[in-house]
Amino acid sequence: GGVIFVDLRDREGLLQIVFDPDTAEIFAAAERIRGEYVLCVRGRLRERPEGTINADLPTGEVELLASELTVLNQSKTPPFHHEENASEELRLRYRYLDLRREGMQANLRLRHQVTRALRALLDEAEFIEIETPMLAKTTPEGARDYLVPSRTHPGKFFALPQSPQLMKQLLMMSGFDRYYQIVKCFRDEDLRADRQPEFTQLDIETAFLDERAIMEMMEELIRETFKIVLDVDLPEPLPRLPYAEALERYGSDAPDLRNPLFLTEVADLFDGVEFKVFAGPAADPASRVAALRVPDGASLSRKEIDDYTALVACYGAKGLAYIKVNDRAAGADGLQSPILKFLPDEAVEKVLERVEAQSGDLVFFGADKARVVNDSLGALRDQLAVDRGLLENAWRPLWIVDFPLFDDDGEGGWTPTHHPFTAPLVDSLAELLDSPGTVLSRAYDMVLNGTEIGGGSIRIHDPQMQSAVFELLGIDAEEAEAKFGFLLTAMDYGCPPHGGIAFGLDRLVMLMAGVESIRDVIAFPKTQTASDLLTSAPSEASAAQLKEVGIRLRSLPKSE
Ligand code: AMO
Ligand code: AMP
Repeated sequence: GGVIFVDLRDREGLLQIVFDPDTAEIFAAAERIRGEYVLCVRGRLRERPEGTINADLPTGEVELLASELTVLNQSKTPPFHHEENASEELRLRYRYLDLRREGMQANLRLRHQVTRALRALLDEAEFIEIETPMLAKTTPEGARDYLVPSRTHPGKFFALPQSPQLMKQLLMMSGFDRYYQIVKCFRDEDLRADRQPEFTQLDIETAFLDERAIMEMMEELIRETFKIVLDVDLPEPLPRLPYAEALERYGSDAPDLRNPLFLTEVADLFDGVEFKVFAGPAADPASRVAALRVPDGASLSRKEIDDYTALVACYGAKGLAYIKVNDRAAGADGLQSPILKFLPDEAVEKVLERVEAQSGDLVFFGADKARVVNDSLGALRDQLAVDRGLLENAWRPLWIVDFPLFDDDGEGGWTPTHHPFTAPLVDSLAELLDSPGTVLSRAYDMVLNGTEIGGGSIRIHDPQMQSAVFELLGIDAEEAEAKFGFLLTAMDYGCPPHGGIAFGLDRLVMLMAGVESIRDVIAFPKTQTASDLLTSAPSEASAAQLKEVGIRLRSLPKSE
């Protein structure tokens, strides 16, 4: 009808502006407005005429009849429109445009609400926030360090902290018995949807509390944060699942409890059978044979089963045996499977009984080293739940407890399951030295809907115990002194018992926002190959900069 409509956006949302040809000079200016121009408009807010009300918009009942217009700035045509789904590459390159989108605005505001709630709750519980250095000494959290060369000490390097672990322990020794920090951590590791090279922890440490008290306090913190920010009631108390049970039942130490599927151990039923694929692992204590019952899975097609076989192969599984239970009442005749001919009927019957198979089900099997079976059937369990729409619409947090202190490094030595400062669950040093492979730790992880959102432990506070653990980890006295001498020395001057936890803030907010990647809750994230497409970091250093820090580059072959 000759008028011009403009959707004007600000931090609160959209408002419809109307330019009427009656106000000739601003109408002419309004004709030149394009997408993403920055405007200052004055006018009269009025109710929209009957029939033009937009119920989907919070401001859909009104519009602004413009009487003044200033174009504060123009915009080129953006490389993608803010409502469209652009490729992630484009989104990251033009991140400032991507962040204008409603969803990203909502994610970052949610993140702010979460940190605000956490700070308020921790303050109430008398925690104080203390900063720790970024130019630091290496903290072993299991990843590679990011190194920073020192100009004033040529040939020497700072490491960016993988976490403030040692600093927060020192703060306990300094008498700050409730510390927290919302802090950046740096880990040069292979990236995934829930991993960034630079990420944020809510880092917490306390003195004089045992694991029970810390876990209670921390689940209360998370529960209240969910209540404040999302008005969601998390279960109280959180269930606690021993690590060994988590692996046996879910194949994972970060199980998604929204998923009703689970693994059943069946090794004992195949001991001595003719079918070597099952009999071998059944007889080996380091292996397992597990069954995964899929209710109504008998309808899975050949192609679907092949795809799942390809999925488990990514985790090292050499195959994916299955039995379709077409008619449970018909005994062996009601079954369909490529492996039946290798197995005695009675073993098959016992398996079906144990997994409580019913007509129409399918049972998958994994037989291999325990790690391979757990990884592959754990991933299969996740995928089946997604494909078959089995995930309950709920928040299902839990604690994983009773971790082993050490993992076998495959070369006759040990690596820490968490980090080398985690206290063992033993009464004496002798007990630890006696059987390091079976000793449990005083560590705990919080898991939410299949994602590890936090992990912590009671720490070693006795220098002798700490030295013994270093030694078991293959860190000799000299290396321990060079790397952690300051910690061992500090422990000699009255070190209180202490323990804490760190939550992955990005992961927590990712879950609360209902998005798939932590990149969607970080303003300026890195790509999967740890680069920043917006600023093109990392980039070369000048010859002068390199010279100042005493570094000469070895010319790299093109292929590297
Ligand atoms: P941990 O290494 O388990 O423990 O880290 C704590 C939590 O941080 C999150 N997280 C990550 N998030 C995004 N990207 C990453 N690369 C990444 N790595 C870890 C996870 C994890 O649960 N100092 C100990 C804590 C302690 O013992 O108190 C530590 O850092 O959600
Ligand atoms: P094969 O004897 O290799 O032909 O395997 C017979 C069946 O067992 C096939 O359905 C395979 O997918 C399956 N299979 C082979 N190896 C394994 C394994 N390690 N775990 C589970 N199933 C397996």
